Amino acid sequence: MEKGEIINALNRNLRAELSAVEIYGAHAEAIKEDEIAQGVKAILEVERGHAEKLTKRIEELGGLPAQPGEKDTRIGKSLGMTSSQASTQEMLKFELSEEQQAIKDYSFQIAYIMDDTTTIEMLKKNLMDEIDHADWLKSKIAELELKQK
Ligand SMILES: [Fe+2]
Ligand SMILES: [Fe+2]
Repeated sequence: MEKGEIINALNRNLRAELSAVEIYGAHAEAIKEDEIAQGVKAILEVERGHAEKLTKRIEELGGLPAQPGEKDTRIGKSLGMTSSQASTQEMLKFELSEEQQAIKDYSFQIAYIMDDTTTIEMLKKNLMDEIDHADWLKSKIAELELKQK
């Protein structure tokens, strides 16, 4: 990937992270099970950190980082609000689908960026966090499913 492509990819990641912050924020408010709401809040803080690191790296590469409140992050906000009317399990499944997409995006970029090791190291850390988030969500979804039986 050329530098311009890397900046574009990092900006796509940044929009997804800003959107995730909105979604997790709305869900943390809406989820009634205290332990799950706390877990969601903890993930939210990690996503905020990802957004900060991506913003810094885009600036270091000479790009213009996406800002909170831009179109795509507003979509995140409305998705988060709408799906916070749903059951806890449905909210967690929606969050899992976002984490799965992030895992795919980060993996793709790690595979194809050739010579920017600083960016690759950052993406690897983000990827490991998203895998942890997906694992946690899967276990909570399974617990809720058991309770329904
Ligand atoms: Fe993230
Ligand atoms: Fe995540």
